[in-house]
Amino acid sequence: MKKTVHSNAPAEKLYEQVYDYLLERIRRGEWAAHEKLPSIRELANQLDVHRLTVFKAFQLLKLNKKVFVKDKSGYYVLPDSLMLIDTQQNPIISACVYENSLSEIHQVKAEYQFSKALLDPNLLPNHYLSSYVKKVFDLYPKVLGTYSTIQGDLELREALCRYFTDEYYFHLDADELLITAGSQEAIDLAARLLVKPRDTVLIERPTYSPAIDVFRRQGADILPVEIHPYGYQLEQVESLMKKYKPRLFYLNPTFHNPTGYTVPPEQRKKLIELASSYQCLLIEDDPYRDIYFGQKPPLPLFSYDTTGCVIYIRSFSKYIAPGLSIATVACRHPLMKSLVKTKSLSDNGTPLLNQKIFLHYFFSERLQQHLEKLRIALEIRKNIMEEELAETGWKWSSPAGGFNLWISLPEAPSMEKLLEKSIEQSISFVPGSICDPLREYHSWIRLCYSYLNEQQLRDGLNRFIGIFR
Ligand SMILES: Cc1ncc(COP(=O)(O)O)c(C=O)c1O
Repeated sequence: MKKTVHSNAPAEKLYEQVYDYLLERIRRGEWAAHEKLPSIRELANQLDVHRLTVFKAFQLLKLNKKVFVKDKSGYYVLPDSLMLIDTQQNPIISACVYENSLSEIHQVKAEYQFSKALLDPNLLPNHYLSSYVKKVFDLYPKVLGTYSTIQGDLELREALCRYFTDEYYFHLDADELLITAGSQEAIDLAARLLVKPRDTVLIERPTYSPAIDVFRRQGADILPVEIHPYGYQLEQVESLMKKYKPRLFYLNPTFHNPTGYTVPPEQRKKLIELASSYQCLLIEDDPYRDIYFGQKPPLPLFSYDTTGCVIYIRSFSKYIAPGLSIATVACRHPLMKSLVKTKSLSDNGTPLLNQKIFLHYFFSERLQQHLEKLRIALEIRKNIMEEELAETGWKWSSPAGGFNLWISLPEAPSMEKLLEKSIEQSISFVPGSICDPLREYHSWIRLCYSYLNEQQLRDGLNRFIGIFR
């Protein structure tokens, strides 16, 4: 059977898809060190692309020291090809620039962390949180001696059902909710359950980069859908759904990471119609909904869904003790049953202690008051970042919520150099290409304003602007 490389991608980028595909096969060990790759003609035939496209992909593999050439014979896998890159340069920079890895950049030990889309721990009511921990041990003395059920603590699921119904008009039963250890786990479960190699998956461009990695690992063919300040071009979405019959569309339509954009309500309804008619599941990832600076955002897509085409993933780790790592997934049966089964293959349920602490803290009046203050504190930090960047000539759309500025630099710098110099001076940020399934956005960066305090923001940004200049 032929593998199709999607020719709706700009023609000059097809070779990058072929490159990714070949690299993945090398990584999986399909061809060992010193082993010859199939010929250009053979691969072009297999992949249904022009020979020149495969040739360009081979050139890129050669440039990145994954393969070597034997005259008149062909291309061979370079031994330890991955290690070669890493030892030549700072491994973190290699991993970010060549391997597109966000987790690597999070390991940078920098004084000025503009890369982490996390809340400053000083903005959490740590003292009060510990009193909830005590309360939970008093209420459930055997909590540490018990597993949760795999689907999640029933008391918590029932409370979340009432909350979702009151806030967003969801029609839900507790058995249509699953509790996971963060939304990262939920995305991974959904991908493992739903995506088989060569399934087509739509992903926003740019996007939350670990989601790209998760769907790639499943062997999906990824098709990007541009997100704009006004949402998507729905004609584009429809034509992709029509032509490629994607299995699912992963999207983060509310205070989107990294852009901060929010998809308007009319588009939400239309998306549901499209998804239902083309039988494409929508995976709605919604961790930033409560971090708004003005008006509340529109209702989740799940609120409009009457056909069961939306899987709603709601993380709370962005503002309720990230250390608890609690998220929930809402979807209909039989999908929910299969998700629970998939989770049962990797653990015996999200830790019960975390679920109980979350339950008592999340539904307390104190948290609601705290959230009000949090929004104000974060908006102040966003304003400070915008003030400091005002003189630079860099461009961004001011977000109405979330944690990040998605910034277009006036010209594409050498991202390697910028990252290297920044790390030397104890600054971390996210290069735009990491967030792009097509690995472009070379002149874009993501700066997060939620993790540093006001003075650190000013000092760090001054230093960063200095490096850039
Ligand atoms: C869009 C998006 N989805 C998922 C996650 C992961 O969240 P969690 O900490 O709940 O796993 C993040 C974290 O940055 C995110 O921005």
